[in-house]
Amino acid sequence: TGPRDLEGLQVVVSAGPTREYLDPVRYISNPSSGKMGFAVAQEARDRGARVTLVTGPVNLPDPSGMRVVRIESALELRGAVLAAAQDADLVVMTAAVADYRAAEQQHEKQAKVAGDVSLHLTPNPDILAELGTNKGSRVLVGFAMETHAGVERAALKAQRKNADFILLNYPTQAGTAFGGDDNQVTLVRADGSHEDWPRTSKREVARRLLDEAARLMRGAASS
Ligand code: C5P
Repeated sequence: TGPRDLEGLQVVVSAGPTREYLDPVRYISNPSSGKMGFAVAQEARDRGARVTLVTGPVNLPDPSGMRVVRIESALELRGAVLAAAQDADLVVMTAAVADYRAAEQQHEKQAKVAGDVSLHLTPNPDILAELGTNKGSRVLVGFAMETHAGVERAALKAQRKNADFILLNYPTQAGTAFGGDDNQVTLVRADGSHEDWPRTSKREVARRLLDEAARLMRGAASS
C-alpha cells in the first residue's frame, strides 16, 4: 500500500464532458472519456482523502469509497463543483467543459427545415476561474488541451484562472488524452516554469499530480 498523505483532506475532482442540450434530443459535447478524472479521484481516495467526484456522462461505473455526483450541463457542473468546493483543500478540474451552450434551449424537438440554420450560442461560465477569484487556501489544478503554443497558452491560462498549475496535453498524440489509457502531459505553472512528464498511464499521471498538489498543500498549511 502507498502513502496515506492525503488523510483528512477534502478533494473535489471534475471529470468527463458536459452536454449542452439544444432541444430535448440534441446536444453539443466532446469525446472526453472521464478516465483522467476518475484516476485522480481513485488515487486521492487511496491516499486517504475524502473525495467528491463530479462527472459528466461517461461509460465508467461509480468508484467506491467516494461521493459521486452525476451531472450533464456546464451549469449543473458549476453548481455541484462550487458547492463541494466550499470546504475543499484541493480542486482538480479535469472536466472538458463545453465553452458554449444554446442561448435558448428549446423545449420541443426542432423539426428539420429546408436550407441552412444557425445556432445562437452563449458562453458558459468558467468554473476554474470562478474558484480562482475566491481561492482561499485551496490548491487549484486545471487541465488544458492545446494544439499549438501549448506552454505559453497554458501559463497564461494558469495566471488568468489563478490556478496553481495546469497539466497540458495535446489531442493529437495517439493513445493519449481523449479516450486513451495513457497520457503525456507537461506541468505548467503560472510563472511559465514547466516540466515534461513521460508518457505513462493516467493513474501514474494522477499520482504525480497529487504529489505536486500535496507539496503545495503542505506549503499552504505551514505558511
Ligand atoms: O480555458 P480552457 O477550457 O482551456 O481551460 C481548461 C481548464 O479550465 C480545465 O481545467 C477545465 O476543466 C476548466 N474549465 C472550467 N470551466 C469552463 C471551461 C474550462 O472550469 N467553462
